Amino acid sequence: MSIKLKLTHSLSNKKLGKHPCYVIFIDEDKQIIASDLLAEFQDNINKLISRSNFSGKANEVVIHHALNDNEVSLLLVGIGNKNKLNATLLQKLAKTVYSNLSSHSKNAYVVLGDSIDEVQFGQFCLALLNSSYSFQNYKSQKADNPHLTTVNFIINLDNQSAFETVLALQVAIFQGQSATRDLANEPPNVCNPVYFAEQAKKLAKAYPDLLTVQVLGEKEMTKLGMNCFLAVSRGSDNEGQLIILEYHGLASEKQAKKGKKKKLEDKPIVLVGKGVTFDTGGISLKPALGMGEMKFDMSGAATVFGTMKALCEARLPLNVVGAMACAENMPSGKASRPGDIMTAMNGKTVEILNTDAEGRLVLADTLVYVQRYQPKAIIDMATLTGACVVALGHVRSGVYSNDEDVLFELEQASEIAHDRIWHMPLDDDYQEQLNSNMADMQNIGGMPAGSVTASCFLSKFVADYPWAHLDIAGTAWQTGKEPQATGRPVPLLMHYLQRQVVSHSSE
Ligand code: BES
Ligand code: MN
Ligand code: ZN
Repeated sequence: MSIKLKLTHSLSNKKLGKHPCYVIFIDEDKQIIASDLLAEFQDNINKLISRSNFSGKANEVVIHHALNDNEVSLLLVGIGNKNKLNATLLQKLAKTVYSNLSSHSKNAYVVLGDSIDEVQFGQFCLALLNSSYSFQNYKSQKADNPHLTTVNFIINLDNQSAFETVLALQVAIFQGQSATRDLANEPPNVCNPVYFAEQAKKLAKAYPDLLTVQVLGEKEMTKLGMNCFLAVSRGSDNEGQLIILEYHGLASEKQAKKGKKKKLEDKPIVLVGKGVTFDTGGISLKPALGMGEMKFDMSGAATVFGTMKALCEARLPLNVVGAMACAENMPSGKASRPGDIMTAMNGKTVEILNTDAEGRLVLADTLVYVQRYQPKAIIDMATLTGACVVALGHVRSGVYSNDEDVLFELEQASEIAHDRIWHMPLDDDYQEQLNSNMADMQNIGGMPAGSVTASCFLSKFVADYPWAHLDIAGTAWQTGKEPQATGRPVPLLMHYLQRQVVSHSSE
């Protein structure tokens, strides 16, 4: 169960509910943000500030607990220099607010006034919602439910409807992002390609007016000549699955009006995700250390899944196809060997020199497959290379594109969502690293620019469609002591898609 977010104008004449807490922001000059809304509390706040030596520096907190159920608690949160309030700090503040509220307040009132704009408000809301996420499917002793049920934002702006719209979108994104995280956090003995397909079927059932699902197994893929995909999935006892979800957001609008059968009337945007449910490396076996984290190697596909869910929740008027390329990369007597040559669905031949470069193989055939939709744009997401983690760490995903418009739209969306990306190169010069003396190309490009050459490989399978590739190897999950899925880049994609609605209607 997650918290409810609401918008209200003022604090006066309200039933505050049980265990109410006011969240009050204070800057480094000890100025109270939106102090005009807090006149009746001014004295108490000032007392609390001086009693606790509160300085107002970023992320500092002090809490005054109410003495009885109906009294109001006060949570003061420092924001530092209010002119330097950036998205990263807003995210941190949201986390701080949530962790201080969750265990003892039921109803929170976050006093904002006109201190932040819609974009910042959206970033804060999503970060607050995401702070409430936890994955406990395999704990026999579940953590206590958080006490917090409702967060009310007190704003005194005229454009409340703009804030309502932002809030609704963030709630939809949160639902999709949580679905992505749930799926990616599942252990690899549970979340295999067939399980993934079952989840997609369930999702389609939950939104019958918006979604259709189609699953291709290895038999169908063999018929289509998807031999690069099969070279990966064949090594596993778990059958590979190419899962297609079609979101008919435009068709269904028209359908409602005309009572027509649903079909993709408008060319869709296609999302493609790498769904390697476990990546051992295959015959080019990975070292043992940290291999457990390779259960997250399906995060690209999980992102597609979560974005489809978020689309359904937001009911954006668009047509979107989500293709999830699910396979398990295992060593076995049936696994492909370094040196094997495969013919992809588009007729190109690939010499597989490292079976651990498997993501590009399943994606290659999937990128060819989705061209039957004549997409407006193709965007693929993949935990593709360790080299991308070396280049960009865990902050920004790498973005590669053959199209300026798609790139621009993604970059804009990325800033608004604060789900950051960084433009990487695709110069022809890099393609040479993929030359093979045996086949049309090989699947590895050597040490230099590993993330770039992986993207070059993909580019050979997208023909002339506007396309972008996101290498999310460093951003899809957090590593280390408590590894878990982040649900990125669902926020980026949803903001991108939302922008396509706007530009679509102004065409
Ligand atoms: N799934 C990995 C990439 C990866 C590694 C993501 C570490 C996140 C953290 C991918 O399939 C892979 O193994 N790539 C190889 C490519 C190499 C063999 C050319 C890599 O990055 O080492
Ligand atoms: Mn690999
Ligand atoms: Zn992989």
